[in-house]
Amino acid sequence: MEDNTFARDIDQGLSAPFKQISSKYFYDDIGSGIFQQIMKMPEYYPTNCEFEILSLQSDKIIEKLNFTEPFNIVEFGAGDGIKTRQLLKKLVEKGVDFTYVPIDISSKAIEELENNMLSALPQMKISPLIGNYFTMAEELANLQMPALFLFLGGNIGNYKSDEAGDLLQQFGQNMRPGDKLLTGFDLQKNPATIRNAYDDKQGITKAFNLNLLSRINRELGGNIEIGQFDFYSHYDPENGEVKSYLVSLVPQRIYLSKTDRTYSFSQNELIWTELSKKYTFKGIEALAAGNNFRVVEHFMDCKHYFTDSLWIK
Ligand code: AVI
Repeated sequence: MEDNTFARDIDQGLSAPFKQISSKYFYDDIGSGIFQQIMKMPEYYPTNCEFEILSLQSDKIIEKLNFTEPFNIVEFGAGDGIKTRQLLKKLVEKGVDFTYVPIDISSKAIEELENNMLSALPQMKISPLIGNYFTMAEELANLQMPALFLFLGGNIGNYKSDEAGDLLQQFGQNMRPGDKLLTGFDLQKNPATIRNAYDDKQGITKAFNLNLLSRINRELGGNIEIGQFDFYSHYDPENGEVKSYLVSLVPQRIYLSKTDRTYSFSQNELIWTELSKKYTFKGIEALAAGNNFRVVEHFMDCKHYFTDSLWIK
């Protein structure tokens, strides 16, 4: 089914007057590997910033949770969990009674995460769920305990403002009054710092984007010549948006056997691949209020590049 969804979305995206492909399709096995490399690049500051926040400020975060009974920590899109582990470790050390509930669509990712977490924190209770944000409602409702929801890594920045609102509404529907949400937001800063994070000299971000085309070739029987496309990204400091694109270097037609269609490109035509929005505190407060949350506190790294923002329902 996922295959058909991919084929349908690519068909629609490449047939549109302004071509686009959703950034959610970056993350096949190869793309996830390239993203791991991005997170290790010196230019890509968000990972280290959030690691610093969760390493140095977990005590303060825990204090603000203020739960008086056992609770669940429900994490969406946990990845390798190295950053989250800083917070979980503190809770275990303090003897707090909680269960960690990571949610991911990939059973392989969940299995690896569970093994890593248990070898680092063998005493921790962990109860993983496999699924996506929008289909987890029933399972989450069955958990019947206060909850801290985690949506870390700045992933919210990859959603357009209406989609971010839908996602927060969805989270809110699965939360009770007093439940908390900790979300990672990348903050607006010197535009050159942001530009460099999304246009690295080594070309790793370019490879991340071009892998979308290789994935289309692999999974949809495409005949795309990858060398006929370039990568372009642009940060607009007036609205905080990094937008990434693939650029057709020549007039060309590509054919996908899965859709049995040909798609035409003019020279320099773009495919929009990603939005990565950078927030202001005003923007974060408005997003919270607009989705029926109240901001408890913003936890920032020492350079004030990134915030993990704690909200209460
Ligand atoms: C996953 N997400 C928060 C990353 C970001 O910064 O928007 C994905 C990424 N795209 C290019 N570099 C990293």
